[in-house]
Amino acid sequence: MAGKILVAVFSASGVTKKVGEEIARIAGADFFEVGKRHTDQSPG
Ligand SMILES: Cc1cc2nc3c(=O)[nH]c(=O)nc-3n(C[C@H](O)[C@H](O)[C@H](O)COP(=O)(O)O)c2cc1C
Repeated sequence: MAGKILVAVFSASGVTKKVGEEIARIAGADFFEVGKRHTDQSPG
């Protein structure tokens, strides 16, 4: 592979986070959740 891959998500409920984690796992990529501190009060 030519370069490193980063999957970065912003997820309100956690749905997008789960999808991003799965994509990162399959792609062998790093994973980063954007703005996690600002979404701590949401359900996910
Ligand atoms: C406070 C807040 C503001 C948002 N503003 C936008 C926006 O302006 N444009 C947009 O496309 N999505 C916006 N989103 C949606 C996010 O980009 C993203 O799709 C969502 O957080 C995914 O949530 P999920 O994990 O529940 O699917 C916003 C989400 C939140 C919580």
